[in-house]
Amino acid sequence: MFKVLRKKVLSDTGNDRVVLLDIEAPLVAKKHQPGHFIMLRIDEKGERIPLTIADTNLETGAVTIIAQEVGITSKQLGRLEAGDYILDFVGPLGQAAHYPEHKHVVCIGGGLGVAPLYPEVKHLHEIDSHVTTIIGARTKEILILEEEMRKHSHQFYVATDDGSYGTKGFVTTVLQQMIDDQQPVDLVIAIGPIPMMKAVANLTRQYNIKTLVSLNSLMVDGTGMCGACRVTVGGETKFTCIDGPEFDGHLVDFDEQMRRLNMYKDKEKSALALEGCGGVGRCH
Ligand SMILES: Cc1cc2nc3c(=O)[nH]c(=O)nc-3n(C[C@H](O)[C@H](O)[C@H](O)COP(=O)(O)OP(=O)(O)OC[C@H]3O[C@@H](n4cnc5c(N)ncnc54)[C@H](O)[C@@H]3O)c2cc1C
Ligand code: FES
Repeated sequence: MFKVLRKKVLSDTGNDRVVLLDIEAPLVAKKHQPGHFIMLRIDEKGERIPLTIADTNLETGAVTIIAQEVGITSKQLGRLEAGDYILDFVGPLGQAAHYPEHKHVVCIGGGLGVAPLYPEVKHLHEIDSHVTTIIGARTKEILILEEEMRKHSHQFYVATDDGSYGTKGFVTTVLQQMIDDQQPVDLVIAIGPIPMMKAVANLTRQYNIKTLVSLNSLMVDGTGMCGACRVTVGGETKFTCIDGPEFDGHLVDFDEQMRRLNMYKDKEKSALALEGCGGVGRCH
């Protein structure tokens, strides 16, 4: 059993709540590298879900996870409080992100993608890369981790769809501006919704800028056995859980990913309705 040490609500717009939890898991904390994720199961009846390791504290043995309450398990997770326990907390899983010596890395996070991006920004800053961070959201009130990101970035930009904060537009609006200003960019890391990662990859392909994306495929076992998380990269089948989650954005078949993510939407809606949430909002 793994103890919840701390809980914090990072944003709450009524439907889309985002919570941060520190889980006591010293062995996971010790082995963590940027890019890794964990699979958790809240209780014996629960499903397993993958979440990125957002941060670790080697002194307290805490592993920080940040979850958006989108369905049954993430909503159950959001109802936990400090002192509660989680049954399974397996990790670190996935391939750690290894960066070659880069002069300038542009890290782009969209929506909840800002959470998995945070450990990468922090790591790049620690290894003395020049870090530019661009975070985007639909509107100002759902932006998360702004201060933390700013602290580890040399250049920092925000883009909101409605223009309520920072540049009005998408993260690609800011990236295009940087390219137009002839700022040399060695690597782009983009994490967020599939349409955002696809748009970033389409833009950088034109300028031949290497681009890594982190895929949030549906997962069941997290060990390469079930095939649920398969993705086509450069015409080859890969498994996000063991080969990823980071892949070359110019080679990923994003349209197939989108279709696979939507495959169980109806079943998830009925499951939520059965739980009494009616498919929307939180069941608190
Ligand atoms: C490697 C990896 C790292 C991840 N890291 C994070 C993280 O740090 N924080 C976070 O909040 N989420 C993260 N996710 C996504 C998270 O696993 C899903 O949101 C979660 O599984 C949803 O479970 P649920 O039972 O609450 O919702 P479900 O009932 O399974 O789904 C509810 C709704 O969410 C959509 N959905 C389900 N799974 C995903 C998914 N994988 N990606 C996008 N939409 C999905 C469904 O289409 C549905 O509309 C990560 C996924 C992967 C593969
Ligand atoms: S989750 Fe089963 S193969 Fe990746």
